[in-house]
Amino acid sequence: QIEKSLRPQFLNEYIGQDKIRKNLKIYIDAAKLRKESLDHVLFYGPPGLGKTTLCNIIANEMGTNLKVTSGPAIEKPGDMAAILNNLNEGDVLFVDEIHRLNRQVEEVLYPAMEDFAIDIVIGKEAGARSIRLDLPKFTLVGATTRAGLLTAPLRDRFGVVQKLEFYTTDELKEIVMRSSTVLGVEIDESGAVEIARRSRGTPRLANRLLKRVRDFAQVKYNGVIDKKVADYALDILDVDKLGLDNNDRMILLTIIEKFGGGPVGLNTLSAALGEDAGTLEDVYEPYLLMNGLINRTPGGRVATENAYIHLGIEMKG
Ligand code: ADE
Repeated sequence: QIEKSLRPQFLNEYIGQDKIRKNLKIYIDAAKLRKESLDHVLFYGPPGLGKTTLCNIIANEMGTNLKVTSGPAIEKPGDMAAILNNLNEGDVLFVDEIHRLNRQVEEVLYPAMEDFAIDIVIGKEAGARSIRLDLPKFTLVGATTRAGLLTAPLRDRFGVVQKLEFYTTDELKEIVMRSSTVLGVEIDESGAVEIARRSRGTPRLANRLLKRVRDFAQVKYNGVIDKKVADYALDILDVDKLGLDNNDRMILLTIIEKFGGGPVGLNTLSAALGEDAGTLEDVYEPYLLMNGLINRTPGGRVATENAYIHLGIEMKG
């Protein structure tokens, strides 16, 4: 028995994202039947929902090597050409934050994705000519927090595009139970549900909170996580009943107290919070939107009645 990792290694260990799992299984099985590389895959959605994990799983299921890089890490077209040229047949190349590739680097990817080739310019000025170098058939897996930030030519070259959704409490409960087994922590269903409820629909957060709750369980209790221990620890960690942390609550409070509940423009709001607008939009807002705590309107962001109720603030006007 090999030691299991918190990250599932194969599709059958993966919990949640049912649609993606079912689709990927078919695409992977079909590619294997045809003895071909898998078509290029783009994953998008908020952080912590499993984009990297799914990429690992793709490589494991295909039985190929995985090479990992990221948009900001590749500065020059030549760097991208070198990475591509070093791949072997069937390899998976994972490019995280793929929306942050610069234009020239991105352009190397177009022929690479479409024709498995790169065009290299040799010589200068009048003597310059371009030679085409064939690449092994590889699979590009791209990940981004927002597909809208990708250029159309890049987006269009992915054969498979999948959006990751927030996990349900039930799915997160299963993940917490599985992770507890891997970590060797004793937990009951009530404890797992409580951690799941407060994990913002995000497995990465659920696993992080599980580890912290385990610390409290071991030092302050008998090591077993139940609802009482989870409640105690999560309250100390400032994670509220909806899973909101101090940052989330500060966003709602700022809209309500500084901007009369909104509407307030994204840039104005991010300046007031001292937070990057992109981070606000990609990291914090999706969960607040899903929970109906804010709305996006043409005039900007508005705090909903739910937000006032959740924070225990009376709605004026
Ligand atoms: N750990 C993190 N994400 C997971 C998932 N989706 N399924 C099972 N375990 C996980």
